[in-house]
Amino acid sequence: MILPIVAYGDIILKKEAEDIAKEFPFLQELIDNMFETMYNAEGVGLAAPQIGKSIRLFIVDASPFEEDEPELKDFIKVFINPIIVEEKGEEWAFNEGCLSIPGIREDVKRQTHVTVEYYDRDFNLIEETFDGIAARIIQHEYDHIEGILFTDHLSPLKRRLLKNKLNNISRGNVKVPYRMKYQKA
Ligand code: NI
Repeated sequence: MILPIVAYGDIILKKEAEDIAKEFPFLQELIDNMFETMYNAEGVGLAAPQIGKSIRLFIVDASPFEEDEPELKDFIKVFINPIIVEEKGEEWAFNEGCLSIPGIREDVKRQTHVTVEYYDRDFNLIEETFDGIAARIIQHEYDHIEGILFTDHLSPLKRRLLKNKLNNISRGNVKVPYRMKYQKA
């Protein structure tokens, strides 16, 4: 089932999300629905707050970046209750977008390597280090469960320049090729 994606401006996107237990109701169905929702919107990552659930869960499919990084061919992962153990390396800029902030893309600087401890969809505990575009997507999605959006990383000047566009998104004055849920203005 395709779920509506929460648009910029909703407070759920600014909240720190909560850990979940293995017995979380309908977890597998929720994960399947998140994948369906992400693919329908042509995204490479989706975090639970973006479909209205303030829980520490996000999904990633980096395979559209296979041309840039061949090892991303089958990079499809589910992260439950993740913790960033370490981030390291030089900061590099990458042009980020977000399904909750349609029509806006900006360069964001983040470190090259990220080590994450997380549970997969079968609740196996895993510690793994990622780099390149995989790290980038994971850092962006991890931010979502911490209540941080990529626009929060921009300079005050950049944010001011985007203010009208962001206001329009929060009010639903934007054309989006997938279903969104807007905050009531
Ligand atoms: Ni996002």
